[in-house]
Amino acid sequence: MPLTVPNTAPFSGAQKMWLKGYLDALNSALIPASGAIPSHPSAASLPPASAGLPITILWGSQTGNSEALGKKLSKTLASKGHSLTLRDMADFSTTDLTAAKNLIIITSTYGDGEPPDNAAALHTALHASDAPQLASVNFAVLALGDSNYPDFCKCGHDFHARLTALGAKPLIQIIESDVDYDDSFAKFTQQLEQSLSSLAA
Ligand SMILES: Cc1cc2nc3c(=O)[nH]c(=O)nc-3n(C[C@H](O)[C@H](O)[C@H](O)COP(=O)(O)O)c2cc1C
Repeated sequence: MPLTVPNTAPFSGAQKMWLKGYLDALNSALIPASGAIPSHPSAASLPPASAGLPITILWGSQTGNSEALGKKLSKTLASKGHSLTLRDMADFSTTDLTAAKNLIIITSTYGDGEPPDNAAALHTALHASDAPQLASVNFAVLALGDSNYPDFCKCGHDFHARLTALGAKPLIQIIESDVDYDDSFAKFTQQLEQSLSSLAA
């Protein structure tokens, strides 16, 4: 008989999701046709230890830096068992935003404090008076820029401030990245993972 998680089990939704994945792995891959359960299931065949959360990463990028970091973050979070959607901001509307549960924005700033071209439409729509409320959205922003410009990382700050004003909840504070963004990206990833794991617990 397949192993299942009883509805009355005293676990959170995220814990039940993880346990169900674990039991599914036992039910399918690990139990041989004879029905005998191996005493030491292979760790490689088990689902990751953290519960998977739905995460949407949007990148706003003029020359590819934010896009590359979006891809890298997407791979890292997927390897932890989360369910990832990675999108160009140009392909995302404010209506799409209302359905995002955990939203990560990685964007540069261009011109004189302006959004990169692919982020301009969403930036404008989000700042419109009819922008939707986003109370069910958790979010984090990684802002790329260059501190030689007076409006350092302004586009990232615009998104952070506007999402907050529309009721979305910051998972972590905004992180600014100067031209050498490796350290800030590592810091952002580490803080975000910590926040996501407390959300999943
Ligand atoms: C023409 C130009 C304008 C820029 N304007 C700003 C700016 O106003 N504020 C800022 O913080 N960075 C500014 N930057 C720096 C970029 O945001 C930074 O190089 C970033 O890493 C680019 O990332 P991307 O490839 O994802 O677009 C500018 C860069 C260029 C080339």
